[in-house]
Amino acid sequence: MPIKYVPFIPEPVEGQAVLGNFNRILKYKGADDVSMTIQRGMPLYEMEKQETVGENADGNMVIRGECVSACAYLKEQGIQVDLVYIDPPFASGADYAKKVYIRRNPKVAEAIAQAEQELDIDELKAFEEKMYGDVWDKEKYLNWIYENLMAIKSVMSETASIYVHLDWHIGHYVKILMDEIFGENRFRNEVIWCYSGGGIPKHEMPHKHDTIFWYSMGSGDEEWNDQWVFNTEYRAYSEGTIQRGRTQVKGENAELREEGTPINDWWTDVPKITSPTDPEKLDYSTQKSEALLSRIIKMCSNAGMLVADFFGGSGVTAAVANKLGRKFIHCDIGLNSIQTTRDRLVADGAEFDVLEIKDGVQLYRNPVQTMDKIKSLIPGLKNEDSLDSFWEGAISDSKLGTVPVYVPNLMDSASKLLDKVTMNRIIHQAIPDLDSNIKKVIVYYIDITNEAEIQKFIKDDDSTNIEIELRDLKTILDDVIIGDYAEFHTEETHDDLFGGYAVTIDKFISDRVLSKIAEFNEKAFLNSSAKKPYKPIEISEDGLELIEFLSIDCTAAEGEWHSDSEIKIDKNGFVVVNGNKTKVFWDGKIRCEQKPLRLKIRNICGDETVWAL
Ligand SMILES: C[S@@+](CC[C@H](N)C(=O)[O-])C[C@H]1O[C@@H](n2cnc3c(N)ncnc32)[C@H](O)[C@@H]1O
Repeated sequence: MPIKYVPFIPEPVEGQAVLGNFNRILKYKGADDVSMTIQRGMPLYEMEKQETVGENADGNMVIRGECVSACAYLKEQGIQVDLVYIDPPFASGADYAKKVYIRRNPKVAEAIAQAEQELDIDELKAFEEKMYGDVWDKEKYLNWIYENLMAIKSVMSETASIYVHLDWHIGHYVKILMDEIFGENRFRNEVIWCYSGGGIPKHEMPHKHDTIFWYSMGSGDEEWNDQWVFNTEYRAYSEGTIQRGRTQVKGENAELREEGTPINDWWTDVPKITSPTDPEKLDYSTQKSEALLSRIIKMCSNAGMLVADFFGGSGVTAAVANKLGRKFIHCDIGLNSIQTTRDRLVADGAEFDVLEIKDGVQLYRNPVQTMDKIKSLIPGLKNEDSLDSFWEGAISDSKLGTVPVYVPNLMDSASKLLDKVTMNRIIHQAIPDLDSNIKKVIVYYIDITNEAEIQKFIKDDDSTNIEIELRDLKTILDDVIIGDYAEFHTEETHDDLFGGYAVTIDKFISDRVLSKIAEFNEKAFLNSSAKKPYKPIEISEDGLELIEFLSIDCTAAEGEWHSDSEIKIDKNGFVVVNGNKTKVFWDGKIRCEQKPLRLKIRNICGDETVWAL
């Protein structure tokens, strides 16, 4: 339950399509619900600090949580951002997956090392895990992005700029929304980011550009130059221009400027990450290049300013902002994004806090996996074709017959909270559409405004005789998520190179990962044939190949984490020690200078467990 609601925009400017004078140009189903959400405000939840990396005098943040809730927190703290870049899920209908690689077992790594230095990607044992899906329909997407953009606007400084990265799927609609939210006179540029590569469709031209809208908070009606930051960026001259010389175009006295030519709004010179061997490439689909972010950040912010990305993914915005001397905020709902970004920033020597919004959505690694897990955990829940898609499925009850079940979509912040608006919709829209023989429905919630109030609301409404049972989704997962198991021993070492202590991991068991592997093996078995023989993934008794990352806290035995020593094992089995890449295989140990107090192990799927030492 949110602590409170923080207003999006306290005082709407004239003509702005929000709050009291809500007046959308782009009308579609669900717009009225957004209006109510906007009027209620942004939900503010408790924020928990998970880790501090370095001194962090600049207050940099890596936040796990939803964009809207992160904005509520920033607004409450009085933090304003100077530049926003977002690359929200595109409504492209794609499901994004993370490739999970089984690591080498350190007990056999040496033998493998003698035989070969680096395994080919295809030879690595791997399986996939869903990360996030963006399969909403257009209307839901537009309502969702509207709410998010409103939230972001509420934390932008008076001179801030926002870049929204989209493409042909939804870009044209979002442009209209942005005109409404920011004002047409705040629109600065539509950047067309051109790239090549990929296949060529038969019946249409290849889609080879993304669209990035730039809006400023300043309108430009007054003196423009103190209303937003704009540092001209230059593109190197082409060989042809250099050879011909500018004189041919500009006359006798024209000189070639040293920086190159000022860029215009179509970018053909900014690389895209396409190759898996690109040194920048992390295991994150939709990862954007540092060159792209570098151009935007240099152009629209100055050193010391605060740059935020509320759909941060692989952490490119935070990483580039840090390299360019800006402060940063990275926010994302996915655990993989937070871990990828954290590790990337540690490797860059950045200082920051890792924070988590306690809004109930972060039950599992990410909302998609949480949804999948929840569905499999609701006792008796089955798909029911005769029901509208509003219902997740139904439970068959010997006395009551079919009992439709509603489960909120965790990807959609608007449906996460069970309030009178949602209940009203259930009673007056969803229930009347059900078959007349339905006697009961079950409504799950992840967050509820006030259970007694909702129960009273149901009781007071006499338009249905169907029984409505409310159930808390969180209790389902609480029962099943158990930590990983590890056996280890600590020794004092007298090693000049590594310092005083070594913790050796003797055994590691992760039921969560093992059940994923069992699922993978079962599918592989069913899909096997004489041509494609069954090759199961097998895990050793000691299970060390399921470890991706280890960290030791020598500072505090409880509370927020301090990573005084850490090891990340890359997919080839090489270790990254305190952010520094090596060509050394993991030897099953982690070393530290001070007496270790706690050990943290992250398994290859991203779950982290902490043990006291
Ligand atoms: C297209 S990806 C961003 C990729 C990023 N620009 C990069 O270069 O790696 C979109 C991200 O939005 C995150 N996301 C989806 N819904 C969100 C929400 N409501 N709040 C915060 N993050 C969200 C997803 O987890 C995903 O990482």
